[in-house]
Amino acid sequence: MIIWSVANQKGGVGKTTTAVTLAGISAEAGRRTLLVDLDPHGSVTAYFGIDPDSIDSSVYQLFQLDDPGSREILAIVRPVGIDGLDILPATPALATLDRQLGNRGGMGLVVTHALRKITDEYDHVIIDCPPMLGVLMVNALAACDHLIIPVQTEFLAIKGLQRMLHTLGMIEHSRNFQVDYTVIPTMFDRRTRASLNSLDVMKERYPDHLWNSVIPIDTNFREASKAGKPLGHYLPDSRGVLAYRELYSFLMNHNRPDDKVAAL
Ligand SMILES: Nc1ncnc2c1ncn2[C@@H]1O[C@H](COP(=O)(O)OP(=O)(O)O)[C@@H](O)[C@H]1O
Ligand SMILES: [Mg+2]
Repeated sequence: MIIWSVANQKGGVGKTTTAVTLAGISAEAGRRTLLVDLDPHGSVTAYFGIDPDSIDSSVYQLFQLDDPGSREILAIVRPVGIDGLDILPATPALATLDRQLGNRGGMGLVVTHALRKITDEYDHVIIDCPPMLGVLMVNALAACDHLIIPVQTEFLAIKGLQRMLHTLGMIEHSRNFQVDYTVIPTMFDRRTRASLNSLDVMKERYPDHLWNSVIPIDTNFREASKAGKPLGHYLPDSRGVLAYRELYSFLMNHNRPDDKVAAL
């Protein structure tokens, strides 16, 4: 099972779009794919036409049950009408977790432990994160093999990226783990100076972690979300999805288990 998390503390940068589009591509490739919605707003959940306010079980239950087993976890999972793709939905109750759990120890690994229980059921898990630091973000960072950080190519992007990387460093230090990450320039519009300039700054500052291509601006993403389908299942040849397919191949090669063996 490969686990990717998609995070950035800035909102509206393309996190949910990235998670949904990559998950659609993974399912298309024949991999049993699970999208985990860790955003209390339930963006992934709502994307597929499920109202987060009207469902009674969600990721929230993972935090309430004491060491849930595979049957309890799979009872929360929902199909979304796309072959090979399921979601673990979010409800607004997730927003109360930080206050509720306080400093209770061990809560940073709830998602990690839950995913281990269903490792035979899915080949690929993609986790969509909320735009704020808290127990959900910590869970997403602890659970993943690779972190994807979408950054909108506009003037204020670099500040958000710096903040995210600072958070990542803090969590890695306090929890004693390391996460490999890739920065993905999103909503790139080569006609605008802001897109070109911010991409140059990213290349200069983060050469080792920057994906060598970009996700272009493509209005079809909004249309696909209205239709409740990943873009690959809505307009398979649109330029947005072609870019995400390239990103998917890049990340799959990057995450080859052989890489780890070779690095030993
Ligand atoms: N590459 C893109 N081109 C055009 N619009 C995009 C692109 N990526 C995302 N969007 C749109 O931008 C908005 C915010 O994206 P979203 O993925 O929800 O961001 P986040 O999850 O970071 O808040 C959505 O309306 C989405 O459809
Ligand atoms: Mg989102």
